[in-house]
Amino acid sequence: MMKKLLVALLVWLPTLTIAAGGGASECPQDPAPVDLRDKAQLQRGAKYYVNYCLGCHSLKYQRYGRLGEDLEIPKELVEQNLMFTGEQVGNTMNIAMPAVDAEKWFGVLPPDLSLKARVRGTDWIYNYLRSFHKDDSRPYGVNNLCFPDVGMPHVMADLQGIQDRGHETRLIDDEQKEFYIGLEVVEPGSLTPEEYDQVSADLAAFLTYVGEPVQVERQDLGWKVLLFIFIFFIFAYALKREYWKDIH
Ligand code: HEC
Repeated sequence: MMKKLLVALLVWLPTLTIAAGGGASECPQDPAPVDLRDKAQLQRGAKYYVNYCLGCHSLKYQRYGRLGEDLEIPKELVEQNLMFTGEQVGNTMNIAMPAVDAEKWFGVLPPDLSLKARVRGTDWIYNYLRSFHKDDSRPYGVNNLCFPDVGMPHVMADLQGIQDRGHETRLIDDEQKEFYIGLEVVEPGSLTPEEYDQVSADLAAFLTYVGEPVQVERQDLGWKVLLFIFIFFIFAYALKREYWKDIH
């Protein structure tokens, strides 16, 4: 009897955590259209990052020089287009804003984003950047579906415009009920929603690269090692047959 109860409990417990974890969040789960081998996408991401994000978020493990090499951007272009405050290419991508001021201005310290894509995942970053919406109760007038009560302003509002929650009324059991149907742009920005999605994906791709700069190389190396082992196996097998030939 006791045993049965224990088993039942073990089976039942995980369902509880699933119920608690999922469902509640309105954060979209769209997969980010990201290709880490697409250097053009990573270059665009780096450009947007420097222009829209580096003012607040450092990338303390990323050096400008390495960025140029990995993304195939010539040194002069890195210096002209990505470095604005007299750094050297050997420097890491720091911010000029003192931490004390940052905390005073935003209430929280804008976190370093070097490893953020590894913690949150590429798709989350993509959806987070697309999920700012109007909320007059917040200090900056915006909130975020993926990060409720976020301390970050919608820094790309000039591109995306302002979104608001769309509503739809449906008749259910003789009653008009309001349903939430996702965000829609209410004040257009300079980009179409599709173009803005692309910008978000480029940034997510860039942060994924920064989180693990050798990822593509590592995967390529893996295949080469497997190929080597396979070829080596053929020789080893031939050798084994040669050795055992006369023994049978
Ligand atoms: C004006 C300053 C500022 C700028 C510019 C800015 N952010 Fe932020 N960001 C913040 C602050 C402050 C937070 C912390 C929010 C909180 O904890 O409530 C934050 C949080 C984040 C987070 C969530 C981090 C976490 O803890 O999971 C991500 C991801 C992020 N920002 C990405 C970006 C990207 C990408 C850009 C450029 C498009 C950008 N931010 C530009 C201030 C900024």
